[in-house]
Amino acid sequence: MTDVPPIRISLADPAGEYRLLKDDLDAAVGRVMASGRYILGPEVEAFEKETAEYLGVAHACGVSSGTDAIQAALLALGIGPGDEVVTGAFSFFATAGAILRVGATPVFVDIEKSGFNADPAAVRDAVGERTRAVLLVHLFGQPVDVEAIGDLDVPVIEDAAQAFGAELGERKVGGLGSMGCFSFFPAKPLGCAGDGGLVSTDDSELAAILGSVRKHGAVGKNLHARPGGNFRLDPLQAAVLRVKLQRIDGWIATRRRYAELLRQRLAPLEAEGQTTLPFERPGTTCTWAQFVIRTQRRDDLRTFLGGRGIASEVYYPMPMPMQEVMGTLRSKEGAFPEAERAAGEVLAIPVHPLLAPSDVEEVAQAVLDFHEDRGRGEA
Ligand SMILES: Cc1ncc(COP(=O)(O)O)c(C=O)c1O
Repeated sequence: MTDVPPIRISLADPAGEYRLLKDDLDAAVGRVMASGRYILGPEVEAFEKETAEYLGVAHACGVSSGTDAIQAALLALGIGPGDEVVTGAFSFFATAGAILRVGATPVFVDIEKSGFNADPAAVRDAVGERTRAVLLVHLFGQPVDVEAIGDLDVPVIEDAAQAFGAELGERKVGGLGSMGCFSFFPAKPLGCAGDGGLVSTDDSELAAILGSVRKHGAVGKNLHARPGGNFRLDPLQAAVLRVKLQRIDGWIATRRRYAELLRQRLAPLEAEGQTTLPFERPGTTCTWAQFVIRTQRRDDLRTFLGGRGIASEVYYPMPMPMQEVMGTLRSKEGAFPEAERAAGEVLAIPVHPLLAPSDVEEVAQAVLDFHEDRGRGEA
């Protein structure tokens, strides 16, 4: 058995973020501990206010995870059994899982030929009589082309779990539809120290409903007006997030610089048809939650990178409609050709802001060396 070296260049570094911000994070966590306010309260309210300002929306509702953010958004619209929600076929399964959990039916559409987001024309075509919402995922931090989708007669929910801070023109994602759903999973560009999420909206009525949904549908003490759950953001997590929110623009800028570096260094491989590189759609600001290249030899590349102590990951190996949980709705091979092709080719390589530029150089060189070793030109 050959020894695989330990990972030196990771895909995310939450412990590194802690080391960097230790004094501020310890003080923030200590403040909450000393306050005795461990459910909602001023820390969550302050985080909501600061985040709403950052996103350029009127309201933000802190919730327990990105998954629960989507579920809360669906519940806030009263979506349930018999209703359809249109969404792209390629995402982390939480996107479809939230639709299933409220008892609604996901209607999947294929992704764009270039890129990973739902194909705008397919989204428009899929909206039918039973559609109650469209759930658009800004995958890997690249905003969906909502302008190409155009106006729809149903609410648009953004799954912005991977896209905090991403922009379409001057507008941040989370403010493009009726509600935006964010995840603060520790490995995300804005990550907390556990689970956390948020729903953004400009609609005051929806904001009030979301506030109720996250507290069992409560509208007063022991008065429950609608189905909901315990979807509250923890104040300890809010305190951590408030510290990191101050860093997010700098971190995004570094991700963007590293993504550009990777694109430049790997450009020859793309020119030779060896890989397809991710790109930023003009008029958008991509936040590069992941830098996902495509190659038909991704499993070998993954092993090669691992051999050099470089992490990589397959996001995602199976389109959502093909998952077993879909039961009778499970799609057969060939139903979503672009999503299936992506699932067989994608590989995320390190791009996070705690890396040194020399780490990113090393990642690029390793990808180049892999192709050199195996002979250029044989895709
Ligand atoms: C696109 C997408 N949607 C939803 C989620 C769910 O977020 P969470 O893990 O915070 O529940 C994630 C998290 O990985 C995600 O990447």
